[in-house]
Amino acid sequence: MSTAERSVAAAMGAALDVERVRRDFPALHQEVRGRPLVYLDNAATAHKPQVVLETIQRYYAMDYSNVHRGVHWLSERATEAYEAAREKVRAFINAPDRREIVFVRGTTEAINLVAASYGGSVLKPGDEVLITEMEHHSNIVPWQLVCERTGAVLRVAPIDDDGNLVLEAFERLCGERTRIVAVTHLSNALGTLNPVRRLVEIAHAHGARVVVDGAQAAPRLPVDVQALGCDFYAFSGHKLYGPTGIGVLWARRELLEAMPPYQGGGEMIRQVTFEGSTWAPPPARFEAGTPHIVGAIGLGAAIDYLQGIGLEAIARHEHALLEYATEALAEVPGLRIVGNARERAGLVSFVFDDIHPHDVGTILDHEGVAVRAGHHCAMPVMQRYCVPATARASFALYNTREEIDALVAGLHKVRSMFGR
Ligand code: ALA
Repeated sequence: MSTAERSVAAAMGAALDVERVRRDFPALHQEVRGRPLVYLDNAATAHKPQVVLETIQRYYAMDYSNVHRGVHWLSERATEAYEAAREKVRAFINAPDRREIVFVRGTTEAINLVAASYGGSVLKPGDEVLITEMEHHSNIVPWQLVCERTGAVLRVAPIDDDGNLVLEAFERLCGERTRIVAVTHLSNALGTLNPVRRLVEIAHAHGARVVVDGAQAAPRLPVDVQALGCDFYAFSGHKLYGPTGIGVLWARRELLEAMPPYQGGGEMIRQVTFEGSTWAPPPARFEAGTPHIVGAIGLGAAIDYLQGIGLEAIARHEHALLEYATEALAEVPGLRIVGNARERAGLVSFVFDDIHPHDVGTILDHEGVAVRAGHHCAMPVMQRYCVPATARASFALYNTREEIDALVAGLHKVRSMFGR
């Protein structure tokens, strides 16, 4: 489908033509262990459309040079493409200003940057950072590190048995001492979609700033940082059908302007002497060293591709897959879904009480079905539900109902191998 055709389809609210989309992804058309690949590990990382692969190849082959440094033609061209990618990211999340877009390695680095730089400069002993029980380690550990350094205290808002954030408890925990609230938009372990807009209202009423981990939401839902009202939003390129090693931190300009550097090096300075140095304005202040130039350009190509299809169409498609999968999994004897929140998206976690998730994942792999089995870098979630791990099927714009049927057939096989 051409970009123009896709735009028309998206504007008309048309259903996503999954067979056409699949043709854009070379990795999907292979066999693993003698079976057609059924790739349901998209929350870990997503495959890349041909246009992203070609963009990366073309830039390395013909347009490659360092950015913001050379006066020569290739460097100018690379700089233009790198900055054009920043503008694409800005438009993608409806940020007001492209100087608010910082390229980082991924969501993890973005949150570490905010914790170290913003957290490190505003937190005082006795201040509080409020997170939730459903966070990924990358939205827990950076806060623990900065709390240790500053004497601030980490508070955790609980989740209920279905995986919903307990809003009353969150409200109770968010108080005058809360300086930072850090929440996931969409839980990678449970699929819970958090009411970010509401959480922001509560936090802002107490003067706290809100950091949103958008790693799972950005590839699945239209994200509008102005509508959400948050202060920081982080996501990764590789889950968004772009390259690994590139990600985005969006932050309000006035916050970025006041934040000290996270790393020192080339390009982040205004002036350097042995007596001391001064900093470049954002975003350069936070992009020390040669950035992942082609990563950013590849991410720009992935964003163009997704916008051609339309995030609304992608969200509808994945929602239909999630509903279909939830019903089908319920029919598998002994299978229990972990996470039945009121608002869910993109993925489903499940366990058999008598079969370890690693065995489930290994048997499914022999059927050609790729899922993730483990704690999903969310050990506190596993502790909350008293399971060592879960198996997780996570969806993408290119998945089909037939693939979910293959998952379910594989799970029946797992069940029969373990008796009953
Ligand atoms: N955070 C990624 C996942 O949930 C890697 O699988």
